[in-house]
Amino acid sequence: MPTIIDGNALAAQVREEVALDVAALMHATGVVPGLNLLLVGEDPASAVYVRNKGKDCEKVGIRSTIVRMTAEATQEQVIAQVMEWNADPAVHGILVQLPLPKHIDEHAVIRAIDPDKDVDGFHPINAGKLLIGLDGFIPCTPYGVLEMLRRYTIETSGKHAVVVGRSNIVGKPLAMLLAQKRPQGNCTVTLCHTGTPDIAEYTRRADILISAVGVHGLITRDHVKQGAVVIDVGINRIELPDGTSRLAGDVLYDEVAEVASAITPVPGGVGPMTRAMLLRNTVTAAQRCSV
Ligand code: GUN
Repeated sequence: MPTIIDGNALAAQVREEVALDVAALMHATGVVPGLNLLLVGEDPASAVYVRNKGKDCEKVGIRSTIVRMTAEATQEQVIAQVMEWNADPAVHGILVQLPLPKHIDEHAVIRAIDPDKDVDGFHPINAGKLLIGLDGFIPCTPYGVLEMLRRYTIETSGKHAVVVGRSNIVGKPLAMLLAQKRPQGNCTVTLCHTGTPDIAEYTRRADILISAVGVHGLITRDHVKQGAVVIDVGINRIELPDGTSRLAGDVLYDEVAEVASAITPVPGGVGPMTRAMLLRNTVTAAQRCSV
């Protein structure tokens, strides 16, 4: 049986650590870390995500404010809200929930966020810092994956990591981080994507396989080398024959668990860690402007 990497337990650990840091910061400086979240439109999944992020903040003593705008909001209105928060010293972190309605240019909105408050790590300044190994903000999902590897003492140095998926939020930053000469790095990295003719040819050679695609069943037993570590970033809702549905990853968990040395479940794997690392980034933002 493989080691099952318990994202819920790790996220609880991270929240405890963050809560202690929040208390210490308040004691030392009187500063209460603040995260402001902007939700534009009526996408039900986004509404749930934002509400959960607010609840997470409450658990650890971070002040959070959610502002909701209708789907008719203009790009100018969204950017004006971001600018107001940029100028507010009580706001340490700003998160604009994506996706935005189609008439709004996501990149323009992200560029408007003060990079020092960009706790999502999506601003080009933070993406650039990540690329060259400077301290900025690491996007929450890649950060969560690195923390899972660290906390389960999974050796990465000298290993072959194969990342499937080249999104700006997960695949690209994760591939860059794993390649860097740093703890939870120093890997030889292969990045597979929709242009890769036969991904199994590469994934079968992975010591650490990370799938971040959003296609259930993409990774089967045939894609995985005996003893590989498998991290499943995919979160897909799949329909069951009885008409109900459930969440599942990119990986066919049961069959891949037979060959992997360690594996993350879905749900209960990377997802909770992504949420926890947002709290970590928010406290880091507050600490940086209090020194
Ligand atoms: N939509 C889906 N994931 C994310 C995320 O990590 N941050 C933001 N802002 N929007 C998202």
